[in-house]
Amino acid sequence: MQVDFPIFFVLLKRNHQYQFIMKKLTHTTLLSLALVFFSCQSPKQEATYQIVPLPQEVVLNPSDPFVIGSDTRIVYPQGNDLLKRNAEFLSGYLQESTGKVLQAEAVSGNLPAHSIVLTIDPTIEQEEGYKLQVNNEQVTISGKTPNGVFYGIQTLRKSIPAVAKGADIVLPAVEINDYPRFVYRGMHLDVCRHFFPVEFVKEYIDLLALHNMNTFHWHLTDDQGWRIEIKKYPKLTEIGSQRNRTVIGHNTNEYEEKNYGGFYTQEQIKEVIAYAQERYITIIPEVDLPGHMLAALAAYPELGCTGGPYEVCPDWGVFEDVLCIGNDQTLQFIEDVLAEVVELFPSKLIHIGGDESPRDRWKVCPKCQARIKAEGLKADAKHSAEDRLQTYCTRLAEQFLNSKGRRLIGWDEILEGDVAPDATIMSWRGMEGGIQAAQLGHDVVMTPTSHLYFDYYQTTDTKDEPLGIGGYVPLEKVYSLEPVPAVLTEEERTHILGAQANLWTEYILDGKHVEYMVLPRMAALCEVQWTEPEKKNYQDFTTRLPRLMEIYSRDQRNFAQHAYELKATFIPDTVKRAIVVELSTIDDAPAYYTLDGSTPTASSTRYQEPIVLTQSADLQAIAIRSTGSTKVVTEKIGFNKATLCPIELKTQPNPKYTFQGAITLVDGLKGNDSYATGRWLGFPGYDAEATIRLGKPTEISKVSTHAVVDMGAWIMGASGVSVSVSDDGNTFREVATKEFPSDTDISKKAVENYEVEFAPVQAALVRVTVKHSPALPKGHSGEGKAPYLFVDEIEID
Ligand code: ACM
Ligand code: ZN
Repeated sequence: MQVDFPIFFVLLKRNHQYQFIMKKLTHTTLLSLALVFFSCQSPKQEATYQIVPLPQEVVLNPSDPFVIGSDTRIVYPQGNDLLKRNAEFLSGYLQESTGKVLQAEAVSGNLPAHSIVLTIDPTIEQEEGYKLQVNNEQVTISGKTPNGVFYGIQTLRKSIPAVAKGADIVLPAVEINDYPRFVYRGMHLDVCRHFFPVEFVKEYIDLLALHNMNTFHWHLTDDQGWRIEIKKYPKLTEIGSQRNRTVIGHNTNEYEEKNYGGFYTQEQIKEVIAYAQERYITIIPEVDLPGHMLAALAAYPELGCTGGPYEVCPDWGVFEDVLCIGNDQTLQFIEDVLAEVVELFPSKLIHIGGDESPRDRWKVCPKCQARIKAEGLKADAKHSAEDRLQTYCTRLAEQFLNSKGRRLIGWDEILEGDVAPDATIMSWRGMEGGIQAAQLGHDVVMTPTSHLYFDYYQTTDTKDEPLGIGGYVPLEKVYSLEPVPAVLTEEERTHILGAQANLWTEYILDGKHVEYMVLPRMAALCEVQWTEPEKKNYQDFTTRLPRLMEIYSRDQRNFAQHAYELKATFIPDTVKRAIVVELSTIDDAPAYYTLDGSTPTASSTRYQEPIVLTQSADLQAIAIRSTGSTKVVTEKIGFNKATLCPIELKTQPNPKYTFQGAITLVDGLKGNDSYATGRWLGFPGYDAEATIRLGKPTEISKVSTHAVVDMGAWIMGASGVSVSVSDDGNTFREVATKEFPSDTDISKKAVENYEVEFAPVQAALVRVTVKHSPALPKGHSGEGKAPYLFVDEIEID
């Protein structure tokens, strides 16, 4: 048995980022270091089974370990080509780590001594389950299927140190019984907004394999580019895969006037499918219809309601021009495209998109209206006739796919109207679509924006981040997802096939940026997908993650490291009228802080317990490890007459943007230009009216508040602020009101400050109404529609 020494961190600086490598020293490792010096034997490094995703059952036993050395052989049953390939993978992984090349050999009779044996064991219950047994003589990886054996190999690969050049590997004796919780463990990649070459797609598939995932959702068509060769419609790639210009930033109306494009030939697609298959990964192709079709319409304008002309879209968003479902030629087009897709991709599920398809064109298109009439599509209280026109289209696609022995999967919008009977639903706008679908008896994959949109920011401190779409999905949030909603019955729960994260690439230009967005959030996701919920624990996960990061690091992946930064948590205390600040790191590294805006160092105040603030402060804090420091956390905490006073809202914000509730508006903390950080309350299309109790009559003469404007996200500033006061809470009198000009710049992203001054009054209660802007301005993709209003800190002086 080995005895563990305390964990410590080694910090290396690479690419201006800190990289943490946690090493777990054991007696064995020390012994092996000694051996390097005193003998000519290979040094030894020890494996640990504390990996990501955490296996369901790991039972260490006290017998002698197995040592993987140059003479170790990897064996598989004669004639089993899949296990042969698995053996080659294992040999490759061991070589990446140790530099040693172990032979893979077929055996038919007796097993050679000192070998790693790959074998099929039909008594294992789960399809993808495996057993990994290690004793002094042998390592056995058995699976019910070759897939299971592959996951056993991934476990072994992640157990051994990532960098162990020339070393023998000591595997502690163990029996691991493991299987995945969910049958669907996916990652998505949008190759339309930006194109990623075959070589990178293969690397992405390698990342899926490393994280025990089995499904790659390949988003191949969209407004900004058609990326799959379709022989019957050559213009889809000749014209549809190229755009002449691309908008700069968040739909700024300014363009980079440069051709951008790319597509995959059918030969390349076959090559990628085969590459994925070897790694037990199914590729689900997506042809997004009937919306998100501008690239196809640019190539074949006759398939749209207006006949065009159309442009391969240079902007980001949702566009009114969609396929014309009244046109028989369009229905034939859908069938023809799906026919080639089915021919190429062996996946049972074929994704037909179905998201974000506006009805505007259909409402006024004579052909679409004629189709509605001819098919007897009727509006009811919940759905328009045009909603049912999309259903009509989806059902035709489903019938076609079923006729080819396949099943349809689509985004949760396909529930609107009458969902195609056999469809699987990908729930993205939250969990609700998935819940509704499971209750209707449909299979479901959970991909909610709240937890699994990896294009969203991973930190609230976005100033040092590459430009992103917005949102906020930190590592811990990903980890916290429970894909099976508690409201479902036992029977309904069986329809939740699993979970997937989506990576939309409007703002993601290359593979290195893809890696930054998905790593290590894929690690958190894979534990959601694989490990039974009662065994999950975020704190424990963060102690296992550094070992996986050693692999990322060795393979020169550009992974994000926010999880190791210093975190400041601010807790409002309305009783003491104090803000309590907690500082933490996942490894309890020593933290230091100042309150006067000066840069903290190891000589500053050491953080020992929560800091209780009752007056304004300019906090700066840092954690210092033996090999370097974290980024400095800075926060200006401002006290005024309203800070931490009891506050009530007349109408609650949208639940998605409620966070800590009304207190957010008087918690002494201000939001930045990212609306989803928890600092802003989001009101969809109505005013924010807050009543604040100052406690006793207090003289006031000024009120200010803030709104974040993010036009790309349909968020506008305030159109006015009014202030009323009261002594008793029953009657209020207005003391000031002021209007503010509406935003007209459709690319604006900023924090706005609104101030109202008035003659001094005495007041015990103050009511502040922040008025919403009525409509998105001319030229905006949502022109005329109601924007969101996001409000923060109300200050009273
Ligand atoms: C989606 O994010 N439009 C599915
Ligand atoms: Zn039409």
